[in-house]
Amino acid sequence: MSKCVLVTGGAGYIGSHTTVELTAAGYDVVIADDLSNSDICGVEGVRAITGKNIPFVEMNCLDKEAMDKLFTDYKIDAVIHFAAFKAVGESVAEPLKYYSNNIESFVTLLSTAARHGVNNIVFSSSATVYGQPDVLPATEQTPRKPATSPYGNTKQMCEDILRDTVAASATLKGIALRYFNPIGAHPSALIGELPKGVPNNLVPFITQTAAGVRECLSVFGDDYNTPDGSCLRDYIDVVDLAKAHVTAVSRMLDDKNKERYEIFNIGTGRAVSVLELVNTFEKVNGLKLNYKIVGRRPGDVESVWADTTLAATELGWKAERTLDETLKSAWEWEKRVRGL
Ligand code: WQD
Repeated sequence: MSKCVLVTGGAGYIGSHTTVELTAAGYDVVIADDLSNSDICGVEGVRAITGKNIPFVEMNCLDKEAMDKLFTDYKIDAVIHFAAFKAVGESVAEPLKYYSNNIESFVTLLSTAARHGVNNIVFSSSATVYGQPDVLPATEQTPRKPATSPYGNTKQMCEDILRDTVAASATLKGIALRYFNPIGAHPSALIGELPKGVPNNLVPFITQTAAGVRECLSVFGDDYNTPDGSCLRDYIDVVDLAKAHVTAVSRMLDDKNKERYEIFNIGTGRAVSVLELVNTFEKVNGLKLNYKIVGRRPGDVESVWADTTLAATELGWKAERTLDETLKSAWEWEKRVRGL
């Protein structure tokens, strides 16, 4: 019988792509999402791509009774926990919203999973835990820097909560995946990133500018100590990222993990500047983007990219899609959303 994976936040950007890849790999999936920062379209897109009526439970992960019912109704073998708020700026303005939603929901999930004997948890972490590393590329051993936002702090705290809960248990296994900058969309253009309001992140801002929804992209800073002066990031394709989750789940279910708590960087290992990304987007999609250079954005780190050796050797995973393909897929998705 197929193993069943609970995907919290499965209607969202990374959760929906992961649900597709889990299904393709033969897992049963149940999605739990409160749709607070996502849309039922995410679930519908996943169902259209997979041709399966993937079960969807509309619920908030803070709701202990709903969580308990979920684990009673479905025989869950592993959980991937995406459900969280993720806007850095908003987290500074409303820290308690972030601490409550991101921390309490994870605690609720872990305690409910423990009560139901579910021993395999993947946590959706972020390269934000590294801040500006002293040495690049960042390995999993690179020291975490003090978080610069409540959002970043919740990622660090949830990693620690998972580590400590694993340590206190005889059976629990946990994997934290530290994503670098996820971008792009499914090649079908049936699922993708759907930010509410003005996008904070670079690629949705680019695609919305290309679509005429935003007038002009602001490139935040060209006076950094980098080859072209703009910031360097490691942009990871969302489908590749989704596949990394499948390898993490299989690793635990097949008892291949070396430690009961493990951390993996999920990136490409390649540093790309903001200007290079903009130029590549223009080139592969055959269009001109309206952009201007403005001052630095407060809180931005100059450069961060991943050492991906551990994911390659231990998970047998590496990024496959090229930046060209990824930026094409991002534009195809935006065009579909806008009816262009
Ligand atoms: C990338 C680069 C900007 C927008 C953040 C979070 C992180 C993670 C992903 C999310 C930077 C530049 C951006 C724009 C620009 N979490 N930029 N103009 O800041 O690396 O990471 O998102 O859920 O935790 O911190 O990603 O996409 O915002 O920015 O020039 O309009 O693009 O300065 O160099 P970031 P980003």
